Amino acid sequence: MVKNLSYKVLDIFSGCGGLSLGLEQAGFEIVLGIDNWQDALNTFKKNHINSETYCHDLSKIDYNHIEKNYLKDGIDVIVGGPPCQGFSISGKRDPSDPRNKLYTSFVKSVKHFKPKAFVMENVPNLASMQQGRIKDIITSEFESLGYSIKSERLLTSDYGVPQNRKRFIMVGLLNDTEFSFPAKTHFENKITTEQAISDLPENSVVCGAGYLSKPLSNYQKHIRGKSKGIFNHVITNHTEKTTSIISLVPDGGNYKDLPNKYKNTRNVNIAWTRFNSKKPSLTIDTGHRHHFHYKYNRVPTVRESARLQSFPDDFIFLGSKTSQYKQVGNAVPPILSKSLGLALLNNLG
Ligand SMILES: C[S@@+](CC[C@H](N)C(=O)[O-])C[C@H]1O[C@@H](n2cnc3c(N)ncnc32)[C@H](O)[C@@H]1O
Repeated sequence: MVKNLSYKVLDIFSGCGGLSLGLEQAGFEIVLGIDNWQDALNTFKKNHINSETYCHDLSKIDYNHIEKNYLKDGIDVIVGGPPCQGFSISGKRDPSDPRNKLYTSFVKSVKHFKPKAFVMENVPNLASMQQGRIKDIITSEFESLGYSIKSERLLTSDYGVPQNRKRFIMVGLLNDTEFSFPAKTHFENKITTEQAISDLPENSVVCGAGYLSKPLSNYQKHIRGKSKGIFNHVITNHTEKTTSIISLVPDGGNYKDLPNKYKNTRNVNIAWTRFNSKKPSLTIDTGHRHHFHYKYNRVPTVRESARLQSFPDDFIFLGSKTSQYKQVGNAVPPILSKSLGLALLNNLG
C-alpha cells in the first residue's frame, strides 16, 4: 500500500471549510474539522469527503479525546481562527471573559499536539489592537512553546480573490526558520466583480441547472472547475420600495447617488451600495443585505457571494439560505489559503 505522504491538518473553528479547501488544493490532507455549528460542518463534510468532522464547543474540548478518536496517526499542522476580542485594555487577558477560552483553546491545541506548523487567522485589527500589544502577547505565548512566529495583514485581492477583504494571519513554525508569506500576485490586474459573476443569471435557478453561456472570463473558467451546473443561486425578493430605491443607484454608487428624500432611509454609511463591476467587490458579509449586485436590483445570491469569496462552483453549501450566507461570509477565501498553503509547503520542505 502507498503511504500518504501529505502533511496532515487539523482545522479548528473550521466553519464550512474555506481555509481547509485552499490548503487541500495546495496538497495538504485535511483530517478533521471541529466547530460547534452543525450546519457549517455538514457543508464541510459534503465538500471534504475524506475528512472527519466533530461538533463540539471548543472552549470545553478535551484534546486527549480528539487524539484518541480522530488523530491516531498524528497531526502536522493546526489551522483556525479563534475569536480574540476578549483581551482587556491593560493588555492582559481577562480569564473570566468567556471569549478568551476560545483563543486559549487554540493555544492548548498547539501545546497538546506540538504540530510542525500552525496558521492562526483573525480579524485585521488584531495587529493594531492596543497599539500592537495584543499581537505581541500572542506572539510571545507561541514563542514560549518553541515556535518562530511571523504575522501579516493580507488583502485578499492582492492574491487573485475578486474581493477586498483584509485578514490577519499568524504562522508559527516549530523549526528555527521563519515563515515567508507568499508574494502578491495581483497589482493592476485585480480580478473584478464582473469577471467573477457576470455569467450567473439574474433570477433563481434550481440546484444544478446548466450554465447559460460559456465562461466569460478566465476567472469564471477556473472557478467553474468540475461543476456540473449552478448551485445555491436563489435570489432574495426585496420589497417594491427597496427595488425601486436601489434601481436609482448606478454601478459602483451608493446612498449619495440617491435623491435627498431617500438618502437617510437606511441608517448605515454603507447602505444602498452597489458593487463596482470594474473592481474587486467589497468585503462579503454574513448576509446583512447592504451591498447590491452591480447590475441587478437585488443583493448577491449565495453562489455570487461564494464566487467573490473564491469558492469553486462545485463547493455546495447546505442549510437554510441565511445559514449559507453566514458560512460563506465567515470563510477564509480558498484562493488566499491555497497561496498560504503553497508557501507553507515551501517552508516545511
Ligand atoms: C470565522 S469562522 C471560521 C471560518 C473558517 N475558517 C473558514 O475558512 O470557513 C469562525 C467559526 O468559529 C466557530 N465557533 C465560534 N465559537 C465556537 C465555539 N465555542 N466552539 C466551536 N466553534 C466555535 C463558528 O461557528 C464559526 O464557524
